Amino acid sequence: MMNHSQPTGADYNYTIVRQFALTTVLWGIVGMSVGVLIAAQLIWPHLNFDTPWFTYSRLRPLHTNAVIFAFGTSALFATSYYVVQRTCQTRLFAPKLAAFTFWGWQAIILSAAITLPMGYTSGKEYAELEWPIDIAITIVWVSYAIVFFGTIIKRTTSHIYVANWFFGAFIITVAVLHIVNSMAVPVSLFKSYSMYSGAVDAMVQWWYGHNAVGFLLTAGFLGMMYYFVPKQAGRPVYSYRLSIVHFWALIALYIWAGPHHLHYTALPDWTQSLGMVMSLILFAPSWGGMINGIMTLSGAWHKLRTDPVLRFLVVSLSFYGMSTFEGPMMAIKTVNALSHYTDWTVGHVHSGALGWVAMVSIGSLYHLIPVLFGHGRMYSIKLVNVHFWLATIGTVLYIVSMWISGVMQGLMWRAVNADGTLTYSFVESLEASYPFYFVRFLGGCFFLTGMLIMAYNVIRTVKASKDSLPALAEAKAA
Ligand code: HEM
Ligand code: HEM
Repeated sequence: MMNHSQPTGADYNYTIVRQFALTTVLWGIVGMSVGVLIAAQLIWPHLNFDTPWFTYSRLRPLHTNAVIFAFGTSALFATSYYVVQRTCQTRLFAPKLAAFTFWGWQAIILSAAITLPMGYTSGKEYAELEWPIDIAITIVWVSYAIVFFGTIIKRTTSHIYVANWFFGAFIITVAVLHIVNSMAVPVSLFKSYSMYSGAVDAMVQWWYGHNAVGFLLTAGFLGMMYYFVPKQAGRPVYSYRLSIVHFWALIALYIWAGPHHLHYTALPDWTQSLGMVMSLILFAPSWGGMINGIMTLSGAWHKLRTDPVLRFLVVSLSFYGMSTFEGPMMAIKTVNALSHYTDWTVGHVHSGALGWVAMVSIGSLYHLIPVLFGHGRMYSIKLVNVHFWLATIGTVLYIVSMWISGVMQGLMWRAVNADGTLTYSFVESLEASYPFYFVRFLGGCFFLTGMLIMAYNVIRTVKASKDSLPALAEAKAA
């Protein structure tokens, strides 16, 4: 129950949330369009138009950076700024600094979009941006932390809602990961060399890479899940106790699992085994989170029949469950001997990325946009439903095709004749992959079409709220 001194909806800083919510849709379309383009290039290589800027090697990091740091992270900025205000019942701390995080982050995205196609890269996956941009990221991220934790400190509620625990862990850990992994010696404005070398460099890189998955693509989005699933279902979280237990277990375990990216490498064998064991244990808290989210619907299952927004959220949790079952399996060394370097990894990535990260963000945005633009509901619920099916079918086409081609590639590469020679050449395995690349491309087109429909629906919702503002003001005056 709110008392009189607590703020109402009008007292929250929604401007920043609106800005990040709208750019999430925009960057989602940009990042996924580049995804569809590189998926097409793998079938029709001529699509690089014989220019260096459109080569696969430059566009692939543009895709990963755009979807993770422009689309996914904008969704996290929007939802964390919204959730922290609502659950702490106070306005955002330092509004000017908050505005700076928006414009600063957009500037970083633009500099990535320019420098990556030009070929400037540090060569570290998911950390490709060169050192001046890395410094800018640090400044914006620390500002984000100040705004977020400042808001927590000035809260008017006695406890800190669990979603904020997840957002908080994501913000702190990403800062630490980014700063440690980006340590480099600059040799010019656009070139630097990592401060680490050899196996240590690889270890630091995948400690970063895996925890970017664990804290950005997982913990942050779990924060989103813990607010929007109960809200949309109109039910309290299934178990508050489970949310705290799985929070601590998740963050305690994730940090050790990085070496599963480096099986059978120069990394000491014991570290690989440790990474494998930690990854296997990680299954438990991951499913703890998934079960807590899905069980929140108990008593509200019937709503799934009529509410496509809730469907987005529940299906995202199912994909989260799937990818966090698959991940520990792939971390087993003997399984990884088959899956590593193949499309199976790419399939796993997108079952997490499309099925979990994108779907939970889309569901949350469909809840958020009508609230932010004061209109009560999306312009068209029917179109939300069409989007849901396009996204689900697109994700399934993507991951099933990659599973098949991945396992096929792994088996073809290891097949040997009686005399010990290889049964298949690499090119033969590539030729056999083409039909699956086409299915993946189709899946991408489905998913992207859904995003374009979402953009249309969002624009109409925003426009409708603007059109109805004078009428609302008149009604109030009357
Ligand atoms: C329309 C949707 C999408 C399409 C068509 C698409 C397509 C692709 C393609 C073709 C690759 C390169 C695979 C390879 O090198 O063999 C890729 C890589 C990747 N994509 Fe996407 N993608 C989409 C959406 C997303 C989203 C929403 C995310 C994250 C939230 C994402 C994250 C990644 C990551 C992390 C990789 C690197 C995978 C690895 O190194 O194993 N993608 N994507
Ligand atoms: C319990 C949870 C998880 C475990 C133990 C796990 C484990 C793994 C393993 C073993 C690999 C293959 C490494 C290799 O052979 O190179 C991998 C790759 C990957 N996983 Fe997961 N995974 C989990 C959940 C997720 C989730 C939820 C996402 C979200 C999007 C995700 C994103 C990725 C990415 C982006 C890669 C590719 C990294 C690269 O090589 O570029 N994982 N994961």
